[in-house]
Amino acid sequence: MMTNIQIAIDGPASAGKSTIAKILASNLKYVYVDTGAMYRTITLAAKQAGISYDDEQSITELLDTTDIRFEPGTPVQHVFLNNQEVTSLIRSTEVTNNVSLVSSYAAVRENLVERQRAIASHDNVIMDGRDIGTTVLPKAQVKIFLVASVEERAQRRYRENVSKGIATDLDTLRKEIETRDYKDSHRQISPLVQAKDAILVDTTGQTIEQVVDEITKIIKNSLNL
Ligand code: CDP
Ligand code: CDP
Repeated sequence: MMTNIQIAIDGPASAGKSTIAKILASNLKYVYVDTGAMYRTITLAAKQAGISYDDEQSITELLDTTDIRFEPGTPVQHVFLNNQEVTSLIRSTEVTNNVSLVSSYAAVRENLVERQRAIASHDNVIMDGRDIGTTVLPKAQVKIFLVASVEERAQRRYRENVSKGIATDLDTLRKEIETRDYKDSHRQISPLVQAKDAILVDTTGQTIEQVVDEITKIIKNSLNL
C-alpha cells in the first residue's frame, strides 16, 4: 500500500507557517492545507449568521451546513464559505480577535479535524496550524515547530499590513499576537504545544528563503529524497 506523505508545520501566530508551507508545497507538488483558514471561516460563518461568538451551541449547529473549499492561487489561496469567496473577510480584525474562542469548542475541533484528515487521506499534504503534529496527523513523517520572537512576529505583521495599505499600530499587533498565543496554548483541547518528535526551527532574524532552505533540508533528510 502506498503511504501518503504528511508534513506538519505548527507554531504560534505569525511565525511564517503559511508563507513557508505554501512555498514548500509548491516546490514538492503537495497539497497545502491552511487549517487556520478553516477555523477563521467557521468564525466568519457565525458572524454572518448573527450568532454570538460565545454561543457554543448555535455554532455547533452551524457546522453541518458550513461548506469550506480552497482553490489554489498565487500569492494567496482562495477560500470559499458556501460558495462565497471569503479570502479577505476571514483576515479581518474581528475574525482574528474571536477565532481563538471559536476554535476552543470541542465540536468545532472534532468537525474540522475530521475534514483535515480526510484531505490527508488521499493526497500528500503540507498542513499548517497549531495541533497538526500532536493531534491531526500524529504519524506525519515530518513535523516542524516554527517559532520567532514575539517582537519579530509583530514587526512582520506590521510590514505586511503597511504593504497592503492597512492602518496599523505595532503595539496593538504585538498585544493581539500575545493574547491569541496565550489562548491557543492554554485551551483544554489540543492546545498549541510542540510535539515530542517535532523539530524546532527558530526563524528570528531569518529571511523566508533561509527558512525554506533549512526546512527543505530537514524534509529531504527525513524522507530520504
Ligand atoms: O496565520 P495566523 O497565525 O494569524 O493564524 P491562523 O493560522 O490563521 O489561525 C487562526 C487561529 O485559528 C489560531 O489563532 C487558533 O486559534 C486557531 N487554530 C487552531 O485552533 N488550530 C489550528 N490547527 C489552526 C488554527
Ligand atoms: O501563517 P503564520 O501566521 O505563521 O505566518 P505568515 O502569515 O506566513 O507570516 C507572517 C508574515 O511574516 C508574512 O508577511 C510573511 O511574509 C512574513 N515572514 C517574514 O518576513 N520572514 C519569515 N522568515 C517568515 C514570514
